[in-house]
Amino acid sequence: MDYNNKLVLAPMVRVGTLPLRLLAAEYGADITYGEEIIDHKLVKCDRIVNDYLGTIDVVEKGTQNVVFRTCPEEQSRVVFQMGTSDAVRALKAAQLVCNDVAAVDINMGCPRSFSISGGMGAALLSKPETIHDILTTLKRNLITPVTCKIRLLKISHYTVELARQIEKTGVSALAVHGRKVPDRPRDPAKWNEIADVVAALSIPVIANGDVFDYEDIQHIKNATGASSIMVARGALWNASVFSPKGKLPWEEVKKEYVRKSILWDNEVKSTKHTLKEMIMHHSCLELPEGKAVIKSETLADLAKLYGEEEYFQFVNENR
Ligand code: FNR
Repeated sequence: MDYNNKLVLAPMVRVGTLPLRLLAAEYGADITYGEEIIDHKLVKCDRIVNDYLGTIDVVEKGTQNVVFRTCPEEQSRVVFQMGTSDAVRALKAAQLVCNDVAAVDINMGCPRSFSISGGMGAALLSKPETIHDILTTLKRNLITPVTCKIRLLKISHYTVELARQIEKTGVSALAVHGRKVPDRPRDPAKWNEIADVVAALSIPVIANGDVFDYEDIQHIKNATGASSIMVARGALWNASVFSPKGKLPWEEVKKEYVRKSILWDNEVKSTKHTLKEMIMHHSCLELPEGKAVIKSETLADLAKLYGEEEYFQFVNENR
């Protein structure tokens, strides 16, 4: 896995499932992260080869609940992101998926109370020993590359110190979201503080925050010195943000997202959630389209809504 000069789809809960990852890659993303999955959940899962779809599914034992779905086409670029607070459990969880993915990443930036109260996400930022324990345990025991994603600390100097400690664990790359834990998404990302980390490390740093157009990629590269750039909301709202030809009309991208969701039998909850996020940004959920998405119960309903009934039928007859 080469982390230099790459465009990266960021991890996004309930959004970064297989259809969006494949779509982003089609438009130019080189590396695509899956949504964060908590180790507690993973250790209760089985790895199942799904011959019907041609996928590898990680399924909660005794249920049909697909926690992670991937396919051979994305194996060389998909990153599995995990939430954890414990090295032994993290390793057990990572071992279930590590042979099907290009890298395993640990989320050290999530500010949600669920993560913090479990000692995961941004809670790790103030526990360098636990970070060391988790990353070195994974590094020693996996042949798959290991990375992590952090937020900025209160003072840039502290972020740089932590990043140096992380580098020493032997991780292949470090993604830095240019916001601090209390910052809200509307607060501007501090590209200058990402630059401090880039200047201090030898491993590739993936810069993340506030890239919404292809031109922003060059701006953040110039401002941070990072050669690899990670995009979250910009890609959720229009996955063609990765295309050097410029963004396609979002209606077109949305339709392609629906087709991919049908093709890969994506969980309807995740498909609806992603569509709602797209609609909320470009239009309004109160309008007929938004209301119809909310009312939809199946992929067949969504196929009908977006005029893809024939495609739905074709896919289901030819599997
Ligand atoms: C996120 N983010 C996130 N980060 C992470 O490490 N794991 C995750 O599962 C998620 N989930 C998630 C869901 C959604 C809907 C959004 C918008 C964001 C944070 C994300 O990866 C990124 O760091 C920030 O959004 C900043 O990047 P942008 O949006 O400014 O490009």
